[in-house]
Amino acid sequence: MKLPHEIVVVVFLVLCICIAESADPLGDFCNKETEISKGSKISSNIDNLLSELALKTPSTGFLTSSYGKGEDQVYGLAQCRGDVSTEDCSSCVKDAADKIKTRCPNEADARIWYDFCFLRYNNKSSFIGKVDTSYGILYANVQNVSDPENFKKELGALMNQIRKEAVQPKNRGLGKGETQLSPFVTLYALVQCTRDISSIDCAQCLAIAVENFDHFCKNKKGCRVLYSSCYVRYELYPFFFPLASNNTKVLDHSMINMMKVKP
Ligand SMILES: *[C@@H]1O[C@H](CO)[C@@H](O)[C@H](O)[C@H]1NC(C)=O
Ligand SMILES: *[C@@H]1O[C@H](CO)[C@@H](O)[C@H](O)[C@H]1NC(C)=O
Ligand SMILES: *[C@@H]1O[C@H](CO)[C@@H](O)[C@H](O)[C@H]1NC(C)=O
Repeated sequence: MKLPHEIVVVVFLVLCICIAESADPLGDFCNKETEISKGSKISSNIDNLLSELALKTPSTGFLTSSYGKGEDQVYGLAQCRGDVSTEDCSSCVKDAADKIKTRCPNEADARIWYDFCFLRYNNKSSFIGKVDTSYGILYANVQNVSDPENFKKELGALMNQIRKEAVQPKNRGLGKGETQLSPFVTLYALVQCTRDISSIDCAQCLAIAVENFDHFCKNKKGCRVLYSSCYVRYELYPFFFPLASNNTKVLDHSMINMMKVKP
């Protein structure tokens, strides 16, 4: 794998990781090479595009759209995680549409990640349908598992199973599952590709995401890899719907490591 040119490692304290998602994004990417000015036609086209994405994405959980004409035309993509409700999808895409313009006010190429949804726009249409792992956001629990060898084996097997699920067209890019590691410990994992890419590209994106398991995520109790074309996450607690237990609150008080991989 090609080494990133720039790696930013941030460690911060997360006081409560709740199943209920807060309005804070997991990350964003504002492409500084695509500067636009406030009040420009392209900027108002982005506003209109965002309204449409916020309005129409929740009914199916996925939308690509465009707004405007000629050189000011902009293209957008929004997708919710396949297991979240229409309601949660709606509030996530709305938050994303609100926040992306404040995070990236002067860029024609912008992206924002949440656990429940992902949204991006660009004045180039060519990103739609193309696998993109150029920019990634990684999160890992700093705590290590107690039995790395067995954990790696079980995680690998679960990942293989849900990656196979994700590339079946009927599953729309989503795979999720769980494995009992011991009578008291269950491993939960979910993968998802954006619905604009092919099964082959989905498999490729997930393979690249899973490569991080041997490095950044190695032996960690939980890890998340977020790219523009796919999402991969595993935890030792239930985090996807339908919830595997009634215990939906306070799961972890540990430190989380975060890394941004830039192209
Ligand atoms: C997109 O916007 C950037 C910044 O304004 C501009 O340089 C570029 O030519 C535009 N691309 C297209 C395809 O319109
Ligand atoms: C986890 O394991 C790594 C590598 O062996 C080590 O550097 C790190 O300190 C461990 N973390 C904790 C919280 O024990
Ligand atoms: C969740 O709680 C309900 C009502 O308290 C109970 O009937 C159900 O069995 C519980 N489900 C699980 C998975 O524990």
